[in-house]
Amino acid sequence: MYCVRNVTEDLYWVGANDHRLHLFENIHPIPRGVSYNAYLLLDEKTVLFDTVDWSACRQLLENVEHLLGERPLDYLVINHMEPDHGASIEEILLRWPQVKVISTEKSFLFMRQFGFQIDGHELIEVKEGDGFSFGKHNVTFVAAPMVHWPEAMVTFDTTNGALFSADAFGSFGALDGKLFADEVNFDRDWIDDARRYLTNIVGKYGPHIQLLLKKAGGILDQIKYICPLHGPVWRKDLGYFIDKYDKWSRYEPEEKGVMIAYASMYGNTEAAAQALAAKLCEKGITNVHVYDVSNTHVSYLVSESFRLSHIVLASVTYNLGIYPVMHDYLMHLKGLNLQNRTFALIENGSWAPKSGDLMQKFVDEELKNMTVLNDRLSIASALHADKAAELESLADAIVESMA
Ligand code: FEO
Repeated sequence: MYCVRNVTEDLYWVGANDHRLHLFENIHPIPRGVSYNAYLLLDEKTVLFDTVDWSACRQLLENVEHLLGERPLDYLVINHMEPDHGASIEEILLRWPQVKVISTEKSFLFMRQFGFQIDGHELIEVKEGDGFSFGKHNVTFVAAPMVHWPEAMVTFDTTNGALFSADAFGSFGALDGKLFADEVNFDRDWIDDARRYLTNIVGKYGPHIQLLLKKAGGILDQIKYICPLHGPVWRKDLGYFIDKYDKWSRYEPEEKGVMIAYASMYGNTEAAAQALAAKLCEKGITNVHVYDVSNTHVSYLVSESFRLSHIVLASVTYNLGIYPVMHDYLMHLKGLNLQNRTFALIENGSWAPKSGDLMQKFVDEELKNMTVLNDRLSIASALHADKAAELESLADAIVESMA
């Protein structure tokens, strides 16, 4: 059965939801599922904007066939050919062999690399600023390299103000019928998944998102709809989400608050983390969030690191190094280019505490534009009352740095 929704009178969402995939990109858990969005425009010409993951191909075909009826599919615009969107291109070409495919030079190159059988079909290569008319609707193609792959572009429909934004402005989470962001409580139920999606998938490419935002800034008053490839479509309060994207891509925290990430083998480092959390709350800083790095998927740790201004790393010493899972988390922060945070350190070691110096070295040398507070809590096996003053001054230093 087809499952479509109108975006505007002649533009339809023809994508699909996926609750069966557990790990997006085979890394990131998606307990709320994900949507693969594709859009069909019924103008004088018929135009499909992007396709879907292979697992959702049959749903896409049913949706498109239903809306087209007897009409042919004239154009296929591929903004982003990564297989979670491009895997169904071949099937579209098999069903509608006369369809003309519009995309970038690099996109066609990547399609061939992935083995998509596109040659023999009419391919229209477009670049930054090129325009096209489908009848009533005129579109402009805008290069969006590294948002999220180098071949990506976005398409702006100057007739109805729809921006087909590719991976930008996307989110984890299946739509389950609710196509528009204003049909859900986005700030309560979606923002964490939107942040986790953006920071883990495209976080590394903040400057490229900034470039795209700058281009969008020039036509902001003309953008009426943001149609991403994952998650809800935006037609109201666009500024709310654009502002989030601006902060994330500038690596500016959304909130003043403290994330305490601890690595604990027997609960003693955890106890120190909890003691610090309690002290901070006692001192009036209650936006405090405590995570066990061993049982929190790193994608959540990354997302929280982008949200909050302060990060406390509390780690045991393990094989004279940083606890491996904590090290993995730090490697993710490096890979995703997180910047502009204040760190505090708690180290634990029963005979040779090393993790504090090693974490300091990592933050100083491997991450960019970070501050590490001088106060450090160093414990031998477990936190005892003799360290109360050190704990107090660490909490004070954090509070002071948040002023
Ligand atoms: Fe959802 Fe970069 O693909």
